[in-house]
Amino acid sequence: MRRAALLILSMIYTLGAFAQDTAQAQATFWDDPVNHPMLPVYLLVFFILVVITLVGIVALYLVQVINMLVVEADKARALRLGVPYIPKPTLWSKLVQQLNASVPVEEEKDIELDHNYDGIKELDNHLPPWWKWLFYGTIAYAIVYIVVFHFSDTLPLQEKEYQQELALAEEQARKLKASQPQEEIDESTLVFSNDQALIEKGKAVFNGNNCGACHRNDGGGNTIGPNLTDLYWLHGGDVKQVFHTIRNGVVEKGMPAWGKSMSPQDVRNVTFFVMSLQGTNPANGKGPQGDLFKPATVELDSTTTIVADSVKAQASL
Ligand code: HEC
Repeated sequence: MRRAALLILSMIYTLGAFAQDTAQAQATFWDDPVNHPMLPVYLLVFFILVVITLVGIVALYLVQVINMLVVEADKARALRLGVPYIPKPTLWSKLVQQLNASVPVEEEKDIELDHNYDGIKELDNHLPPWWKWLFYGTIAYAIVYIVVFHFSDTLPLQEKEYQQELALAEEQARKLKASQPQEEIDESTLVFSNDQALIEKGKAVFNGNNCGACHRNDGGGNTIGPNLTDLYWLHGGDVKQVFHTIRNGVVEKGMPAWGKSMSPQDVRNVTFFVMSLQGTNPANGKGPQGDLFKPATVELDSTTTIVADSVKAQASL
């Protein structure tokens, strides 16, 4: 019986380990379970587990029924022999007795000590076996622990384990970065791009509380922020300069440093959006502030049409 239980247990474990291995190898099982190649195996494992559980429940019931029959038979025999029926101790009560080894109240006289403290007597009880074995267990554990952690260095101590996990995490982070390279945004080499997708993203960042509150959603400016659509700039109208202003802000004048709270991508996108506002000339825009911006050299390529427009606008002034 016990051997059979062990066999079943080991089977469950190996199946479980197998399922885990494959789950790790193909982490995308839940993305599309129906078409996953391992689905039949998982279903089989699940089915076997269900069957094992059901068999276990039925077995428990059977054991109970057999117990009941045995008790009934014992009762009948006691009646036949004319002796009182004394129920046999159950497995559980036997176990509890073994673990506690407590002396029944009727036998306490035997273990009473001679000490008598003002009428309070002392019993010479043993430590309960469960406690003793727990204690021996801690001693055995301590020996194993010292050997494993301090003498043989089989397992790492906390600090070493921490370092190892850090190294592992760094390694994983490095791999992740390598697998999805982030575009580097370098202010000194930033070039305006008329990519509508980026400009739309920039617009979403610009509108509302971020920028619109001080520059108006159309960039026309209000009492706080300057007009961003004209050709006059306080801090330069080159894409690199605008990016620089947005990222680092002009904090003493009330323009926040957005590089602290936005990703470099967002700062770039909003910069492109601001550049795209050039020459839009919204109604009731704020008057010019700063200097007329004249780009020194304009690198024109297919993506810089808007800068080209602003240059044309400048040329016609
Ligand atoms: C709290 C108000 C406020 C908010 C919010 C704000 N700005 Fe400004 N911004 C200003 C002020 C004030 C200035 C003028 C700074 C100066 O006088 O030097 C300015 C200047 C600028 C300039 C430079 C203009 C020039 O003439 O050189 C740009 C570009 C700019 N802001 C873009 C943005 C963007 C993009 C956002 C949103 C991400 C934003 N601002 C959010 C107040 C604000």
